[in-house]
Amino acid sequence: MCDIQPGPVVVRGWIESLTSFKKHSFVKLRDGVGKESHVQVFVSVTVAPTLICESYVEIAGTVRELPDKAFSFRAFEIEASEVIVLGESNSDFSTKCPSEAGPDTKLNERHLHIRDPKFALITKLRAILVRALREHFEETSCTEIFPPSFVGNQCEGGSTLFKLQYPDKDRGDIPAYLTQSSQFYLEYTLPGIGDSYCIAPSFRAERSHTRRHLTEFLHAESEWSGIFTLDDHLEKLRALMKGTVSKFLEYGRKYLDELELVSHVEKLLVMCDDIITVTHREAIDYCRSHEIYKDADTKIHFDHEDDIPEMQERRMIDEIGKIVFLIRFPKSFKSFYFSTFEDGTVLGCDIEAVNVGELVGSGVREYDLGRLEKAIEENGLKKEDYREYLDLRKYGAGRTSGMGLGVDRFLTWLLNAYSIRDVVTFPRIPGRLFP
Ligand code: 4AD
Repeated sequence: MCDIQPGPVVVRGWIESLTSFKKHSFVKLRDGVGKESHVQVFVSVTVAPTLICESYVEIAGTVRELPDKAFSFRAFEIEASEVIVLGESNSDFSTKCPSEAGPDTKLNERHLHIRDPKFALITKLRAILVRALREHFEETSCTEIFPPSFVGNQCEGGSTLFKLQYPDKDRGDIPAYLTQSSQFYLEYTLPGIGDSYCIAPSFRAERSHTRRHLTEFLHAESEWSGIFTLDDHLEKLRALMKGTVSKFLEYGRKYLDELELVSHVEKLLVMCDDIITVTHREAIDYCRSHEIYKDADTKIHFDHEDDIPEMQERRMIDEIGKIVFLIRFPKSFKSFYFSTFEDGTVLGCDIEAVNVGELVGSGVREYDLGRLEKAIEENGLKKEDYREYLDLRKYGAGRTSGMGLGVDRFLTWLLNAYSIRDVVTFPRIPGRLFP
């Protein structure tokens, strides 16, 4: 309904709302998301005496301009001369999943909740975020790669692996996994293709029911060559943050405006110029001096060797109120593939943001074959399972780094949503496979 011109028209769509009077009704007709995909139709009772919300209808009529003060979201409306009901809706639609329904109803009735105008705008903005990411990668000369979802080794630790049986040629079934990250595949392509990226689902058998975890999430990952130091890597991340948020604001402005989120995203864009870097050690010191405890009941403090759990980490980031590059974690917290400093901390960086916590996991890759083999063994993994990954170090080890950005978490942050479930079209969380 974006291209309606003055004069006679025929439009088709769903009746989003109806305001009925004695002799006429105002129908809000929808064929998509946002104001431009809606139109107000004036229907006299002589044309259509009874209509039901969410019915799919064809309306013939004439476009007429409205005076400035008229109560309508567009400068014109259609006066209907004929209404054909092509697919009548059951009349209980509005009670099945109203806008004010609780989170469980919105999940159970997701296939209907998608018609909620606010949720439809969020879904549109998800597509716009993917476009913003893709354009940032393209502008920075990365090539898109399409990695597989079935893989034979783990990337991010055994505890969140989805295990399955994969058909072999002649041996029956062999063990396989759903990919946790496409990082290795991007690394494989890098020497031949150059800097690369992908935007693809990753899978984690999460047991935790938190407001930022999914079992299947959209992962935007990228690998870059010519990266020698952690500072080189952080420059790439700064460009990623600013490039993506500014493009998201540009392409999404009219939809953000409808959600009254333009000023929020503008603030986040300003924050991208004021990112602070905090080492893991400094983060522990912060917690110790700001009454953020390892155990709140006993008031036990964190030690420098402790990992900071999600809740305490989010409290710290919320208090700091800025985008934080959290760097230099102890090697034992992270996967085997990170390059390390002499003090045993990794050249890694998690990007943390207010309200959501970790948005990005990233780091400089270990290039030395011997050190990599040792790290694989120290992590209790078998070198044979990483033949291809080790080959990269045998045949011209590049100096590379890369990152993985959780698109769903990033959108939660951009839209200031409470939970990741509020922004994902069909969220996959423990216990939920429908709709
Ligand atoms: O920190 P992670 O585990 O890093 C990796 O997977 C790297 N191999 C990526 C790379 O370097 N190519 O995950 C990266 C990001 C997290 O920061 C988070 O935003 C998101 O992926 N993520 C999840 N999002 C939703 N639900 C989950 N269960 C997630 N697990 C990770």
